[in-house]
Amino acid sequence: MKSIALVALFLPLAFGAEYLVGVGKDETTGKKGLGFDPSSIHPLSGDVINFEFRSGSHSVVQSSYENPCTSNGGFNSGVITVADDLAVDASGLPSVKLTVNSTEPLWFFDEAGGLCNQGAVLSVNPSQTQTAAGFKENAAKAPATPATSATPSTTEDHSSHASESATGTAPGSSGAAQTSPASNAATKDGAIQFAGIAAVMAMFMGFF
Ligand SMILES: *[C@@H]1O[C@H](CO)[C@@H](O)[C@H](O)[C@H]1NC(C)=O
Repeated sequence: MKSIALVALFLPLAFGAEYLVGVGKDETTGKKGLGFDPSSIHPLSGDVINFEFRSGSHSVVQSSYENPCTSNGGFNSGVITVADDLAVDASGLPSVKLTVNSTEPLWFFDEAGGLCNQGAVLSVNPSQTQTAAGFKENAAKAPATPATSATPSTTEDHSSHASESATGTAPGSSGAAQTSPASNAATKDGAIQFAGIAAVMAMFMGFF
């Protein structure tokens, strides 16, 4: 009984799903391009969004349904620049993770990419009344947002939100983009390995 209870304790940790979202990747072509791939996801509380950055300068910035192309002061990945010669799904692309703490809708845009009006937006847990399509419509109507260069913008303090990214790439320091491998397979293997270790540990603790 004890071992079962312990396994039950470990399982949620091991299997909190990870949602891989490509930034600067066209979800319809699968190639480098505008926006997010996918552009709408439905994670549960405790799940993690793994933003993986493609070629060019991009930043994932939290906004609101009404003002898709304006920071709401929440999450900001900082500007991350990836060399143009890296393949769209090259291994070791820089990534920034964000843990989701509820199933309330969350809204994001690619501020540094500068194509919010053209649909560089991400809907997280859109609802019946606030839909992913509606968010894109609002983005199309929003005041145009110029692309920021690799140097941090002067009108916005990226560093103030640094603590919100779970695994850090130093926000704003584009040159030093992290190179930790972020492939889906590796993450999955890690989770399974961890689950195995947790289960074995729990069993031993139950026996002794
Ligand atoms: C969820 O909580 C963590 C820890 O407090 C925080 O770092 C993260 O930004 C939160 N996620 C969202 C989407 O606000």
